[in-house]
Amino acid sequence: MPELAAHVRDVPVNQIREITEAAWSTPGAIVLSIGEPGFALPRHVLDAGIECLDRDETNYTPNAGIPALREAFAARFREQQGVNIGAERVYVVDGAQQGLHFAMSLLLSPGDEILIPNPGYPTFAMTSRLLHAVPVQYPLYPQNDFQPHMEDIEALITPKTRVIMLNSPSNPLGAVISEESTRQLVELAVRHDLWIISDECYEAFTFDVPHVSPARFDSHVPGEARVFTSLTLSKTYGLTGLRIGALICPPGLEQKMNNVMESIVSCVASPSQYAALAALTGPQDYVSRARDHYRSNRDAASALLAEKGIPFLGAQGAFYLWADVSHVSGGNVRAWVRAFLADSGVSFAPGTAFGSIGEGWIRIALCGGQQELLDGVARLPAKA
Ligand SMILES: Cc1ncc(COP(=O)(O)O)c(C=O)c1O
Repeated sequence: MPELAAHVRDVPVNQIREITEAAWSTPGAIVLSIGEPGFALPRHVLDAGIECLDRDETNYTPNAGIPALREAFAARFREQQGVNIGAERVYVVDGAQQGLHFAMSLLLSPGDEILIPNPGYPTFAMTSRLLHAVPVQYPLYPQNDFQPHMEDIEALITPKTRVIMLNSPSNPLGAVISEESTRQLVELAVRHDLWIISDECYEAFTFDVPHVSPARFDSHVPGEARVFTSLTLSKTYGLTGLRIGALICPPGLEQKMNNVMESIVSCVASPSQYAALAALTGPQDYVSRARDHYRSNRDAASALLAEKGIPFLGAQGAFYLWADVSHVSGGNVRAWVRAFLADSGVSFAPGTAFGSIGEGWIRIALCGGQQELLDGVARLPAKA
């Protein structure tokens, strides 16, 4: 067989998938290693997708998405972040993952560097490698509560750096970047003339702290604006399989965006777009119910960890708890989660799935049922 491209050969195994697939094939296992919201889709959302098929509205849509959906995303962003953006800056994409690929395709040439968080979501590195760019990890240290520090990021900037990747609320940390740090990060990008890609997948789920988008501190003048905001309905409405997200772009890039969109996917499936429109414009009560459920799971699991003396980061957002199991993991948390699944029947994502700083840590998904979550966490060995 001829060789595969080098950049594909070098993409590492996704350790979340590795442990989760092992858990799925373990009868009776409690799976706390994956972030899949358990809520059923509301009827009006399903109906909107089905009605689109019934109308036989199954042709191509405009590259950037149906106008009503672009406007719904823009209106929501205006309302939540107070940022005055128009629908022409919104591109409907096949989930946040494609939005990230899309933004990186527009910004990164081969050999360019992108600064990504460590610990951070694994595809930030995978996607940039696929584009022949170079992911450079900026550290989020336990002693700083895993918050980004400007001097750590600034020290990594070279003439090849093009992009700073941000993710708040964070997967895997549940950490939320403060308004002041967000402002400083945008100022840093301006000082070094860099782009920002802001992954705001979990924007709907913060607990007692606001979610502040870097777009608030960006210029809105074409040629000066530098923030790309990646949004998804996968987490907010629990519709991961419909594959709908949005990328909000700096103004003035419309033609270039259309070209990139055309060459990657042309447009997103129309039934998914109509379902998304119904989700964004219909009743929102199930989003607040989901938030209350995650908060209650966070509180219950945090209390159990505290009882066992296991250190963890107090989650301010998303639906994950980041816990320190270095008292049992023996310096190899990836091997330890496999052994723990075999011995105790519970899967957690190993911290090393998210970068080297995750050694000794696990990510506990809070999005399932509470009893199962507590049964799983109860099996963790206490710290003496
Ligand atoms: C931080 C982060 N970004 C992007 C994604 C991809 O989301 P989507 O399903 O919208 O592609 C996820 C999914 O888990 C995520 O956690």
